[in-house]
Amino acid sequence: MLDLLLTNATLPDGRTGMSVAVQAGRIVEVTPGLAAPAHETVDAAGYLLSPPFCDPHFHMDACLSYGLPRVNQSGTLLEGIQLWGELKPTLKAEDIIERALTYCDWAVAKGLLAIRSHVDTSDPSLLPVQALLEVKRRVASYIDLQLVAFPQDGVLRREGGVDSLQRALDLGVDVVGGIPHFERTMSEGAASVKLLCEIAADTGKPVDMHCDESDDPLSRHIETLAFETHRLGLQGRVTGSHCTSMHSMDNYYVSKLIPLIAESGVSIVANPLVNITLQGRHDSYPKRRGMTRVPELMAAGVTVAFGHDDVMDPWYGMGSGDMLEVAHMGLHVTLMTSQQGIRACFEAVTTNAAKVMHLQGYGLEPGCDASFVLLQARDPVEAIRLRAHRLKVWRKGRLLAQTAEVKVKLAVQGRPDEVSFLTPAR
Ligand code: FE2
Repeated sequence: MLDLLLTNATLPDGRTGMSVAVQAGRIVEVTPGLAAPAHETVDAAGYLLSPPFCDPHFHMDACLSYGLPRVNQSGTLLEGIQLWGELKPTLKAEDIIERALTYCDWAVAKGLLAIRSHVDTSDPSLLPVQALLEVKRRVASYIDLQLVAFPQDGVLRREGGVDSLQRALDLGVDVVGGIPHFERTMSEGAASVKLLCEIAADTGKPVDMHCDESDDPLSRHIETLAFETHRLGLQGRVTGSHCTSMHSMDNYYVSKLIPLIAESGVSIVANPLVNITLQGRHDSYPKRRGMTRVPELMAAGVTVAFGHDDVMDPWYGMGSGDMLEVAHMGLHVTLMTSQQGIRACFEAVTTNAAKVMHLQGYGLEPGCDASFVLLQARDPVEAIRLRAHRLKVWRKGRLLAQTAEVKVKLAVQGRPDEVSFLTPAR
């Protein structure tokens, strides 16, 4: 007797009429039209069953703090950092925890079950670190939360920055972070990349660095990150996040840089909602898009994922934990509007993000965790177009959230009495 049997599901790869059998929290079979006894059988009605959404880049210590103590007027990254600096001395651990737990509720409801969050290590008290380690413990049964030691004020620029970061890692923070473009000079930025990669090599931890979050085409720390990854044998363990300066770089230089990134096995995380909002702020017209070169990186074989980065905080006032919204903005900013491009954007918030996070047991194959989301859409393109409702969200065979199928009642004479927004049959 199976624990759970889903029938008549469509999978992201296009297979239809699929059954997914679950036993003891794992997928045991994926096959068309299976009829087997199960404690619970769910008819997916032809809707899309996807592995859960994953956010490979987030700031959970700041989330839902929008307006505290004031709103970012210029809309720039630098005012956001300044504003966060004003907020930090007033933060209480219980408030950070409460806001983070609320966000995790939103995440579960949106089928977002794995989050890599940066956590500010600049203050020697490590208050945000302690708070998010507590959150990680509390959400462990329903969200995979990874933490990145993030020296927001610059690991070298801030006195005691290296010591604070190292203590955060000792406390159990999973990943080594960095912010080379915010160090005092280009050379100090490069030195920070070298130092942080060496810490990762010594501790066996992965690296995920904010890298070149700037419109400055000469911000080239990604080159140093790729070089250090190669030099220290960290291939497959290193991620460069944002990399927005690549948008503004000279094409000739990029023609050398992208193969270097691919060769070093560095993955890239773009953050479409926030990159399009924070970058280009110093431009008059035309205003740059300020997002990294996603299709070109993907074409070179680099793993590229999309993150949410911020939700209602000093840098970004919008958001609800919806990775389909992230993918939706991603395809617009990158002009990845072909069917293949849109599907790649869906992968950027599912499989590619899971790869960046090194998630074990992720996917819709036998042997994987029975963690998946049933969407009110019939394929990944439709899911993004509609930012589709999450009908059911399971983690390891356990139902965590559900929404009744949404149809709008229509009272227009001579027209159907319901609207679903699904693509009309041709
Ligand atoms: Fe970030």
